[in-house]
Amino acid sequence: MTLRPLGSIILLCLGFSLHGSARVLDSRMRDDSSGTQLPVLLWHGMGDSCCNEYSIGAVTKRIQEAVPGIYVHSIATGKGILADTESSYFGNVNDQVAQVCETIAAHPEFAGGYNAVGFSQGGQFMRAVAERCQHIGPKMHTLITMGGQHQGVMNVPDCWNPSFNVTPSLVCSAMQRLLGFGAYLPFIRDRLVQAQYFKDPYALSQYEKHNIFLADINNDRPAKNPVYKENLASLQRFVMFRFTEDITIVPRESAWFGFYNGTQLLTMQQTALYQEDWIGLKTLDEKGRLEFKEVAGGHMHISLDWFQQHVIVPYLDVRTATGVAQAS
Ligand SMILES: *[C@@H]1O[C@H](CO)[C@@H](O)[C@H](O)[C@H]1NC(C)=O
Repeated sequence: MTLRPLGSIILLCLGFSLHGSARVLDSRMRDDSSGTQLPVLLWHGMGDSCCNEYSIGAVTKRIQEAVPGIYVHSIATGKGILADTESSYFGNVNDQVAQVCETIAAHPEFAGGYNAVGFSQGGQFMRAVAERCQHIGPKMHTLITMGGQHQGVMNVPDCWNPSFNVTPSLVCSAMQRLLGFGAYLPFIRDRLVQAQYFKDPYALSQYEKHNIFLADINNDRPAKNPVYKENLASLQRFVMFRFTEDITIVPRESAWFGFYNGTQLLTMQQTALYQEDWIGLKTLDEKGRLEFKEVAGGHMHISLDWFQQHVIVPYLDVRTATGVAQAS
């Protein structure tokens, strides 16, 4: 994410960011529908880091300024900016998700539940946190994904400079070369983060057989994991933002669980994943807990003011959040 101060702040969010010195409310951690402010967990995108002051660090700060006393934790999967950024390209997402589950379980601030925002690939990774760890706790209440790749990507994601003061990334070019070489080759798929959500409609059987992450959390294989469905269906709300001019994510409808199957673009409702309720989306939808939102513009091109108005105010700030489904 790149932020330009004031005005046209743009978040090119492929990454992550952590941040901050947050205070904790004594009365934290209850249900958002019961009127208590919940803490927030953020997961940055590709090429970003937890605490970049021009990307997620700025988002963290904005949330803290907008909601006095709120606890915000931005996930870092590597120690230090460089390692954290690298971990957005190289590593095993399953391990990263497990690590995040441990982290939130170890933070007393999250014990009473939390809301979560995932940026770009952080969107599907955050969804995996809910699917794999909701029954263990702490509980995610609202999940918000910004330009996520819920049905994967069928192209090699664009390399670009996510932050104005970082040189165009060599790791990103290396990632592209590897992905071009073979997303399903064991050496690559186990180490390259983007291969783990690469879904080539022309090689679906390969994907089902060899993909180590997306095929699992989407219950794409014949043997479905019922825990994923129960866990995701237990969210109070799942909000998906899609960027209307997104050219980074192909297809951009992946942000709404759309999938290009090789001949046509299927909406979420047209997929078996939804119709047969493999992961609880249909259940959520029938309870009015799924929200589809659009943002005009390219991938992660949002300003902090936009973020405040469209994410913090309606979803993260207990004083102004509206339309929260009652806890079941
Ligand atoms: C894509 O989906 C459409 C509609 O369900 C179906 O008719 C078509 O056969 C599918 N194509 C492939 C290649 O599976």
